Amino acid sequence: MILFDKQLNVFHLSNDQISYLIQIEEGGNVAHLYFGKKIAHYSGGYRYPRLDRSFSPNPPDSSDRLFSLDTLMLEFPGNGFGDFREAAYAIRQSDGSRVSHFVFSDYQIQQGKPALAGLPQTHGADDGIETLILSLKDDVAGLELQLFYTIFEDAAVIVRSSKVINHGNQPVTIEQLASQALDFPNRPFDLIHLPGAWAKERQVTREPINRGIKRLDCKRGSSSHQQNPFAVLLEPNATEFTGECFGFSLLYSGNHETIIEKDPYHQTRVIMGINSHQFAWQLPPTESFQAPEAVIAYSETGLNQLSATYHDFYDEHLIRGKYKKQERPILINNWEATYFDFNEEKLDALVDEAKELGIELFVLDDGWFGQREDDQTSLGDWFENEGKLASGLAGFAQKVHDKGLQFGLWLEPEMVSGDSELNRQHPDWLLQVPNRKPALSRSQYVLDFSRQDVRDHLYQQLTQLFDTVAIDYIKWDMNRSLSDVYSLLLDPAQQGEVAHRYLLGLYEFLEKLTTAYPTILFEGCSGGGGRFDAGFLYYMPQIWTSDNTDAIARLKIQYGTSLVYPPSTMGAHVSAIPNHQTQRTTDLAIRGNAAMSGLLGYELDLTQLTAEEKAQIKEQITFYKKHRRLLQLGRFARLLSPYEGNDAAWLYVSPDKKEAIVFYFRVLAEASAPLVTLKLAGLDPDLTYQSGGESFGGDELMQLGLYIDPHLAGDYATQRFHFVAKAPHE
Ligand code: DGJ
Repeated sequence: MILFDKQLNVFHLSNDQISYLIQIEEGGNVAHLYFGKKIAHYSGGYRYPRLDRSFSPNPPDSSDRLFSLDTLMLEFPGNGFGDFREAAYAIRQSDGSRVSHFVFSDYQIQQGKPALAGLPQTHGADDGIETLILSLKDDVAGLELQLFYTIFEDAAVIVRSSKVINHGNQPVTIEQLASQALDFPNRPFDLIHLPGAWAKERQVTREPINRGIKRLDCKRGSSSHQQNPFAVLLEPNATEFTGECFGFSLLYSGNHETIIEKDPYHQTRVIMGINSHQFAWQLPPTESFQAPEAVIAYSETGLNQLSATYHDFYDEHLIRGKYKKQERPILINNWEATYFDFNEEKLDALVDEAKELGIELFVLDDGWFGQREDDQTSLGDWFENEGKLASGLAGFAQKVHDKGLQFGLWLEPEMVSGDSELNRQHPDWLLQVPNRKPALSRSQYVLDFSRQDVRDHLYQQLTQLFDTVAIDYIKWDMNRSLSDVYSLLLDPAQQGEVAHRYLLGLYEFLEKLTTAYPTILFEGCSGGGGRFDAGFLYYMPQIWTSDNTDAIARLKIQYGTSLVYPPSTMGAHVSAIPNHQTQRTTDLAIRGNAAMSGLLGYELDLTQLTAEEKAQIKEQITFYKKHRRLLQLGRFARLLSPYEGNDAAWLYVSPDKKEAIVFYFRVLAEASAPLVTLKLAGLDPDLTYQSGGESFGGDELMQLGLYIDPHLAGDYATQRFHFVAKAPHE
């Protein structure tokens, strides 16, 4: 999969689907040639043209006026030697200079993929994977830059990361080190990215890329509701089913930046990595710094194919453990059912109803610990709120098990309330700047997870809990952004490291905890989807998509999320009406169909349901259980966008293409409405499918489509279709 042509000085990484070409240019400058659809063989004709661009300097060892780093397409651009575009790194040396010039020194091609210590990472069996490690050196600075490129035989992706090693005898400060940089030749592009807000995460935003610099960033310490670490460059006329698309996804749960620059000659550069804002990492002699991974993906046939590539890749090569590609339980969560106002009697009633409906897992949310009766207190005190549950936490968990359900618990371990035993004992354990009062958010502070003592204490508390209560599931929440990012244990000169050290500490903690408790299903959460990123998915196979449980709002949120994250990762619950976030009233049918589009759960007071509603929920659960594998792990494709019109639709197709489930959602009713034709995708054109007593050819369903029922009544209407291929003799 990886070849080095010594004549041309070109590395060619390829599999059946993609090619990635790197050329060692004159002076050892590492140039980018190509990323895209597979080419069988590169013959060498695409060398960057020599041209005198005024005000574009020549590198010091080149007297060729026609050669400049200012215009060349580069693999990992830096500032200082005449590239005035955005850089992928900035390293301050002991003499105060930020000028560094890395030139090619060596390379290795390895079977498999080297492990990244302490960071989330994609993985797989060695025999289907190859890695190219380019070693670049700046001898004056005494620095080595390693660029990693991994290609998997089964995916249209390249996994990239970078590393700096200090071989000098003075410390240096890394002020920026991107995970990847990619240059494109002159061609028009649109950008799609996923900005948002609390309860409105991952809203699909598309815009043309024009001259100048566009920066997508997050400085909140988590990957955030406000900007997901994901972007797509695509041909301006590309659609869900047509056109070239290039995806960029970062395996990192903290501050991130994606910088897109279109230069004076209309070449486009995309840089992605840890946010350089206030980042400064001291690198002493002999030490190295590793940037997180970025997964860049290619699709020749539109966004759905790009998403399918990410879905398959993340299901197969990112998610780990017991639940990798395994069906997830249907849960009931008591948060929107009771909030903090619960006792054992209320919970018992919920559990009994849940059992009756066929729900498999009961999750006890916030409020079971310390003195917690509201959100003002007790974070950090991870022992039970004595007396709140008559049988005690362990007794209650046992009771839930005895009734035949699994038991899950909510935690928010990275946080501490001002009013908590933990804070009274260890007021120095917060992120805080000396002599300043740290900012409060939701009445809580952030624990300094960069500290070993903080982590050790929490680990001891959590393991004691896990060892005494029969826990099958943990919801790991995080309800504020990081402010006052300062660690009392670190030197003043190291304070620019704290945000990243927090993440490294958290990742280390999660690795240890999830390894020690391999049967627990962990679900990530940050006020809903405030930390829904590929980094977190390495530790937790599913994430609570949004605190917004309104089915209509969920259409846009889940549509956006699905661009990169698989359905198997998206928690989605049916909740009460009027909805608690939007006050909207919708039918149970649309709430069910929206929630079945991810990992189905319920989050409402089941004891308040009418007999008819219970019957409807039973039907939803029975249907979901029967088709869970298809809905959680099938080939997902978007058919109608809620961003473009009044409706949304998507479908799931089984790997053998013999079965498909389609959901259609209409937002508002309209008089004299145009008919809606839904064309399906991904079926076998030669098979005949049956649904609702009718037969359809696969080609018909994809070419003609089917009419959505024109009699669908009212706002917030929905239809669900189930297609099964007929056996040949039928
Ligand atoms: C925010 C979460 O997203 C909610 O689901 C709930 O767990 C609350 N926190 C509890 O405080």
